[in-house]
Amino acid sequence: MATNPEKPDFKKQFRTMVQSSQSLTVAYIGVVNDLFAALKRLGTADVAAIATAAHMDAGYVRRWSDAAFAFGYLDAEGEVFRLSEMGAAMLPDAADTLMPLSMTMVSSVHMAVRSASLMRSGERPGETVMAEVETLLPWFGTMLEGTFARFFEEKIRPGVPIFAEINERGGLVVDLGCGNGWYLRALARRCGSLRGLGLDGFEENVAQAMRLAQEEGLGDRLHFIQGDAREFKLDQPADLIAMNRALHHVWEGGVAPFIRRLRDSLRPRGAVAIWEPDWPSDRSILRKPALRGLALQNLNEHVQGNHLLRADQIAEAFAAEGLAPEISRFADGVEAIIVARRV
Ligand SMILES: C[S@@+](CC[C@H](N)C(=O)[O-])C[C@H]1O[C@@H](n2cnc3c(N)ncnc32)[C@H](O)[C@@H]1O
Repeated sequence: MATNPEKPDFKKQFRTMVQSSQSLTVAYIGVVNDLFAALKRLGTADVAAIATAAHMDAGYVRRWSDAAFAFGYLDAEGEVFRLSEMGAAMLPDAADTLMPLSMTMVSSVHMAVRSASLMRSGERPGETVMAEVETLLPWFGTMLEGTFARFFEEKIRPGVPIFAEINERGGLVVDLGCGNGWYLRALARRCGSLRGLGLDGFEENVAQAMRLAQEEGLGDRLHFIQGDAREFKLDQPADLIAMNRALHHVWEGGVAPFIRRLRDSLRPRGAVAIWEPDWPSDRSILRKPALRGLALQNLNEHVQGNHLLRADQIAEAFAAEGLAPEISRFADGVEAIIVARRV
């Protein structure tokens, strides 16, 4: 049968897409089981040596090594493997690491499986879904740090005046929904008189945040506790309360009492800094490549009992409680920082 040269070859396109996804799943296994890291330490190694160094089963490592070779993460000479340039780029400590992309891929698959079932009943199990995959949760903080820490340093910190002010005067910064604590570490590294308190719902995140702060010599100034952000209480008023991709986790069910709690926990002239992706009011914008992932994220958020927010909707909610909000937008308007000051 003659093929129409004008018609896009969907099958070919989709085969390529499937291979890209498969490649990221192979990378995921190498990241979460320290296989890339073990090979970096060893330089070159056979399957038995990789398995011993990573404390993994040699039978599984043999099959994984072939797959990692096939997708270009490992090079091989006979039975001896080494990291390729692409494999080295997946190392969590590589400059501008590709590791977050493998995490995003596998968590998307997990959430797709969950929402496909849950859609039938309408059940929304909440934040616990994130903890269902034992190899994923411990990597969430590293994934978010790998995705956003550099962007914060290069664009947001220099572009939003509150960060220069905090850098100058120090004081108490509180991070609600702090993940692995990367944001407080980034601020504390620059300002010796800054103290930080991070709070997160997952014990795993809090333990990681404490360990990483200790490792950087910041453990005496940064503290992390487990708890529900909706009920946070401070012993003293804060100079800055930050929520990075966390406000949408406490929004549903009425956010006004929570915003009043934030306001009443600030020093005079203190501020709240909210960082959220800006959910567009015009659906056609979701077709932009930079926003497609956001549309899928909003389905995943639904499973967790959340939904993404518009920056102007956030600003209005803070203004309604007597704070003075200002919106700064980054990354073609996808990322929004809303700084709301106590007046
Ligand atoms: C998308 S993550 C962002 C983490 C971190 N702020 C960052 O930017 O890397 C959202 C975080 O909020 C936490 N979280 C969600 N709901 C919470 C709640 N009610 N109380 C405390 N933490 C919560 C989650 O455990 C998760 O670490």
